[in-house]
Amino acid sequence: MKESLLKWLVCPLTQEDLQLTVFEYDQNKYEIKEGRLKSVVSSNEYPIINYIPVFVPNSGNIYPEFFNKYQKQFFVNPFSKYGKKLSHNEGLVQKGFGYEWRKYKTVSEKIDYDFVMAGNLTEQFYADKLILDAGCGFGRHLNIIRRFSGTEVVGVDFSIAVLSAMEIVGFFPNVHIVQADLFRLPFRLQTFDLIYSWGVLHHTPDTKTAFFRLTPYVKPGGIFSLKVYRNIFPPAHQVQKFIRFFTSRLPLGLLRFLCFFAYPFHFLNYRLGFRHIPIWSHLCRFFFKFSEDWPVSLNDTFDWWHPRYNHYHKTAEVKQWFEAMAFNDITVAPDLEVAWGVKGFRD
Ligand SMILES: C[S@@+](CC[C@H](N)C(=O)[O-])C[C@H]1O[C@@H](n2cnc3c(N)ncnc32)[C@H](O)[C@@H]1O
Repeated sequence: MKESLLKWLVCPLTQEDLQLTVFEYDQNKYEIKEGRLKSVVSSNEYPIINYIPVFVPNSGNIYPEFFNKYQKQFFVNPFSKYGKKLSHNEGLVQKGFGYEWRKYKTVSEKIDYDFVMAGNLTEQFYADKLILDAGCGFGRHLNIIRRFSGTEVVGVDFSIAVLSAMEIVGFFPNVHIVQADLFRLPFRLQTFDLIYSWGVLHHTPDTKTAFFRLTPYVKPGGIFSLKVYRNIFPPAHQVQKFIRFFTSRLPLGLLRFLCFFAYPFHFLNYRLGFRHIPIWSHLCRFFFKFSEDWPVSLNDTFDWWHPRYNHYHKTAEVKQWFEAMAFNDITVAPDLEVAWGVKGFRD
């Protein structure tokens, strides 16, 4: 963690300022490797582990070695205080994505750049902004946006995907990584010039509530960019929901193994051109998320079936959310296959 992040951080429970105690500073990377953040009045404590400030309530379960090492530095028995159980479904979301983004963390410059620019955006759109990536995963979009002139970017994620994000982008001077829940963010309100959340909020228990919780962190005049799954053919989504009831409960290793069975279909589609046959390609799209590259297809198919929540939304619905939170100049990007890209400016 860079000390400069501290000015934007507050206790997620009380919004108080946090005091920093450094346990270990990395002289080579100019980062705090291990430490503690403590709220000034209420004395809530949050660890800094592997260079990342961690605000999830089950940090003791995820990082037991850290709490073993620093037992004496935390006032209350760290294992009861930091070992809170998440709800069953929250646990599935956190575990599933942690597993996914520790296994798959391939940077694909062209794909990631195109995704960041979808909706005819330019580098200028991002320039000179303090930006939050809400649900950053392994940081592929931070990795593009951090290069644009004058940007400072903060990535937040609920899962141990933050470990991958830290390895990939976290040590660049204008990048910060935080582990926290979007429903309880550790930031001052009205901090960011731009918040984007791409492919994330539909994986929370309630997309709309998640959006409403996030928008107060945008500065007046700032921008929110949202990408959520779009609702094209509701009966198909109902069937997918039914299948997902089972797949989201399978052991993650087994589900990933099952996704390898997609390979023959990928071969037919991309080597023998079957993807141009309309009915066949629609059927394939129902079960698999294919692109030209097999590793990407494998991961995207796994990503399609493991999440506990996958909500689908209509554009009109998403636009209404933006209006309700006093955004104007709301635009919808037409160029995404499975998602709506909606952005707006906050009054
Ligand atoms: C499909 S991934 C997308 C990651 C990234 N935006 C990307 O496009 O590569 C969804 C991410 O949302 C994160 N996530 C889900 N629920 C969350 C929550 N309540 N708080 C923070 N992050 C959450 C997951 O951990 C996961 O990394």
